Amino acid sequence: MERTLVILKPDAVQRGLIGEIICRLERRGLKIIAMKMVQLSEEIARRHYAVHEGKPFFEGLIAYITSAPVVLMVLEGPRAIEVVRTTMGATDPAKAAPGTIRADLALTVDRNLVHGSDGPETAASEIALFFREDELLQYPRDTDRWLMVKP
Ligand code: CMP
Repeated sequence: MERTLVILKPDAVQRGLIGEIICRLERRGLKIIAMKMVQLSEEIARRHYAVHEGKPFFEGLIAYITSAPVVLMVLEGPRAIEVVRTTMGATDPAKAAPGTIRADLALTVDRNLVHGSDGPETAASEIALFFREDELLQYPRDTDRWLMVKP
């Protein structure tokens, strides 16, 4: 079982796409174990995107992600990191496969609606950046036995 961090970015909130995006992730069977709406501070944004510091798009990325509220979620499921990334589609919406969130709902890489962790270590550190351990809920779902064998 894996956990991953998802951010519905300011363009998702402003364009009224929160429900549409959560719907696509939730309907795959991923379990929402934490969720909150916040406006990111510049300090947290810079920490989250530290790996991109120095790149030409970095300052624009920080301005974008702090420009309006975002929705932060932790999703859990088998291979959740990969499942979220394939549901989102390629980082650049122009290159994303049809049927993915970014291909269906976005146009450009600098306004690509969603973020999902790219690996297990990143997921762990991103989740810890935004959520306390006691905010990650543990609860049974009766539907799990219809989604996977021995959840
Ligand atoms: P995300 O998955 O959140 O990870 C890093 C983000 O940087 C990415 O989505 C885009 O929002 C942004 N990004 C990546 N490449 C570019 C680019 N060439 N120009 C502008 N923004 C970019």
